[in-house]
Amino acid sequence: MRFNDLIAKKRAGEELTEDEIEFFIDGYVRGEIPDYQVSAFLMAVIFKGMTKNETFWLTDKMLHSGETIDLSSIEGKKVDKHSTGGVGDKTSLVLGPLVASCGAKFAKMSGRGLGHTGGTLDKLESIPGFNISLGREEFIEQVRRIGISIIGQTGELVPADKKLYALRDVTNTVDSIPLIASSIMSKKLAAGTDTILLDVKFGDGAFMKTMEDARKLAKLMVEIGKHFGKDTRAEITAMDEPLGYAVGNNLEVKEVVNTLLNKGPKDLTEICLHSGSTMLLQAKLVSTFEEGMEMLRKNLENGAAYKVFLDFIKAQEGDVSYIENLDKFPVALYREKVNAPRSGYIARCKALTIGLAAMKLGGGREKKEDTIDMSAGIVLKHKIGDRVEKGEELATLYTERPNFEAVAKEVLGAFEIVDDPVEKSPLILETIE
Ligand code: URA
Repeated sequence: MRFNDLIAKKRAGEELTEDEIEFFIDGYVRGEIPDYQVSAFLMAVIFKGMTKNETFWLTDKMLHSGETIDLSSIEGKKVDKHSTGGVGDKTSLVLGPLVASCGAKFAKMSGRGLGHTGGTLDKLESIPGFNISLGREEFIEQVRRIGISIIGQTGELVPADKKLYALRDVTNTVDSIPLIASSIMSKKLAAGTDTILLDVKFGDGAFMKTMEDARKLAKLMVEIGKHFGKDTRAEITAMDEPLGYAVGNNLEVKEVVNTLLNKGPKDLTEICLHSGSTMLLQAKLVSTFEEGMEMLRKNLENGAAYKVFLDFIKAQEGDVSYIENLDKFPVALYREKVNAPRSGYIARCKALTIGLAAMKLGGGREKKEDTIDMSAGIVLKHKIGDRVEKGEELATLYTERPNFEAVAKEVLGAFEIVDDPVEKSPLILETIE
């Protein structure tokens, strides 16, 4: 077999066979097929797409390109969730302890933030002492004992995706639904849980800009998950404005704690209850969605979810005194208020602009190698639909970097204020199973 022939076949829009896809992935991981040929192949995929079978085979070959995790020694249903990424998306940190408090085993390998989107690992590392690098046995033991662990990827899980994703990043070939779906699902399947819930975001601050693309990606990922015998469901959620009020690592952790104490933002609480109930259904811990909502609400109100969060932070060596007294978290040196230029109703608060601004304040990474400042970011005071008066605070910027004026202007530009009342669009649009 010659890889050049496979490029020609894909360029002509023909379907590759399973053997051909295996040849591609094996050859690429072993270094036998060079980046320049794979780049040409990926560009052909961008234009010609992939059939469902090709996507299943690609996922399978990537999934088996490295180690996989066996969680079968943990009793009960092991559950995982994945968000395609957004601004202020701290859902996993609330959802994990919440579903664990109801009996699900939340075993999650997470990633870091890049660009305008934040990463769960960075948020956790803003808690002094928190260790994201547990060994595999420790990870399994902790999930068994307290029902939750979140760590960075261990060992060599899906090396094919690591190599391919880096190449896609620099060849402008990320943007393909079958490539995104196989990339995400190969990693989720390798992580070994029984169930997978996907939060596919769409809108200004998301990967998928339209509801239609989000639905296509969600459906394909659910089909892949089912093909591999996993209970996989997806929720399509809006990402036009940041989720909650806080954007930036320790700012978001504080919001997480307040949400677990049942005094969090309405949108974050709503999405956590909704996704949590779907996860409890997947884990067969409840038999109806409403029963799940009730159980979760109860565990937010009675402190059970918060208690699991404390156990989780303690188990991974985080200093819980920061959680118990949020004032202990370091606060950025500069705090700049952005005020409303006029009175009216907020019609827009662009997530992408806010995410990029938080990054520029030091709260995110432009390049993988960048370091982040855990106290930097933005806290919104108002969200879409709110009435504000001229001069009232819209947001506060937190940064250690003195020249923040340009960023303050960008944050102001993220808001649109209009005369007439604005109706908020729904946050959760659809569940796909
Ligand atoms: N996230 C991934 O893990 N893979 C993609 O291809 C896109 C987003």
